[in-house]
Amino acid sequence: MSHLSVVILAAGKGKRMKSPLPKVLHTLGGKPFIVRVVEAAVALEPNDIYVIHGTDKAAIAACFTDTPLHWVAQSEPKGTGDAVKRALPHLSNSDRVLTLLGDVPLIAKDTLQDFVRSIPVDTLGVMTVKRRDPTGLGRIVREANGQIARIVEEKDASDEERRIDEVNTGIFVVPASKLAVWLPQLEANNAQKEYYLTDIVPMAKQDGVPVVSYQVADETEVMGVNTPAEKALAERIFQRQQACYWLEQGVAIQDMNRFDVRGPLRIGHDVRIDVNVIFEGENEIADGVSIGSSCVIKDCQIGPNVTVQPFSHLDGVVIEAGASIGPYARLRPGTHIESAARVGNFVELKKARLGQSSKVNHLSYVGDATLGPNVNIGAGTIFCNYDGVNKHHTWVDEGAFVGSGCQLVAPVRVEKNATVGAGTTLTKDAAADSLTVARVKQRTVSGWERPVAAKES
Ligand code: UD1
Ligand code: CA
Repeated sequence: MSHLSVVILAAGKGKRMKSPLPKVLHTLGGKPFIVRVVEAAVALEPNDIYVIHGTDKAAIAACFTDTPLHWVAQSEPKGTGDAVKRALPHLSNSDRVLTLLGDVPLIAKDTLQDFVRSIPVDTLGVMTVKRRDPTGLGRIVREANGQIARIVEEKDASDEERRIDEVNTGIFVVPASKLAVWLPQLEANNAQKEYYLTDIVPMAKQDGVPVVSYQVADETEVMGVNTPAEKALAERIFQRQQACYWLEQGVAIQDMNRFDVRGPLRIGHDVRIDVNVIFEGENEIADGVSIGSSCVIKDCQIGPNVTVQPFSHLDGVVIEAGASIGPYARLRPGTHIESAARVGNFVELKKARLGQSSKVNHLSYVGDATLGPNVNIGAGTIFCNYDGVNKHHTWVDEGAFVGSGCQLVAPVRVEKNATVGAGTTLTKDAAADSLTVARVKQRTVSGWERPVAAKES
């Protein structure tokens, strides 16, 4: 088995994306294109992977901390042929070279593996695909006997050639020894004044090297992403793949077109997910969980039989069995909700632990706090955790009851089974098993007459 080297082209400017971000750093399912392509390459276990980069090396390299990659500069994007030529000095003549494009992020490793295996070693393998709409792509021109004669770019093609629906995917497998002969001969006499990699096809024919084609069945897998519209299309294709996968695992996804996963996800049995839920980062969803519509769930661990009601935003949260969250809850990093606890509408928690079966049901802010089991926090209660300089902690012990509209000025403790009367601004600890209330005394002014509007003079 000869050595396999993969050359990934990522030096283009990506002008058509109309974005300051290098094209290959745009994401699909939350992961940069280039990372997806490199992952597919790594899965082939090649001997070496070369990434051809332009001026954005640092930003691209930052995506790879432990993958051994070779970085090869192409200071000016003079075309795909010129890009591969940059790798030539690093390749040895006995290598087989697989070329991949950094803007073809949906490519699957199985397809690449099958391609490399099915193309005979001493030939030029061309991966092609038939497209419903081939506009903008390199057309595969075949001879009468079916052999590939050449590849013609849209801008150089005749009207007749533009009608060809079989296109170049940009993925080739070719002996390095042949590239060493052909690439220096490339010329840029075409509509784009670029050195086209595709021009090695006629050179192969001239040298008597067989050109073998391999047609991929699914046109979406090898689609290039050149524009924002193509990116949106690729994203939806990818997300539908995720949705189909989870549907097959038995997850009840309400609408596969309104389901987004942007990172690693684990889902148990008997899970329901309503429309427009977004999973970001790394999430773990246990058995029996139900997630209402329009929730954003980021880096969370959600325990069995938890209910998350619509419009909740959860970030960096652990939720234990049977808890109920939302609607309209905002749970920020460091929040831990114990089993059977309830967080209701317009409630924000940050770095807070809510004990078993405790409730914060309406309009409250709970930050930097530890709440024991069976605690009740009344509507509109604020944990005043910030003095303008430092954050302080609040403790609410088991069985405590905090009435509505309280401010708990941290650091402070509400002791076991304490009751804090509604409207209290608590600045000292509330004693266990007692009522604490700090409230202006109510008075009545009898016979009070309301002011009347002044007469206009
Ligand atoms: C290319 C192919 C076309 C094929 C299509 C498939 C050529 C001439 N054209 O067209 O036949 O149908 O891909 O998607 O090969 N790049 C560099 N350096 C350069 C130019 C490009 O590294 O000088 C990289 C880009 O970053 C990109 C990839 O090569 O990742 C493809 O370049 P792009 O300009 O998008 O080529 P297409 O016009 O899509
Ligand atoms: Ca492209």
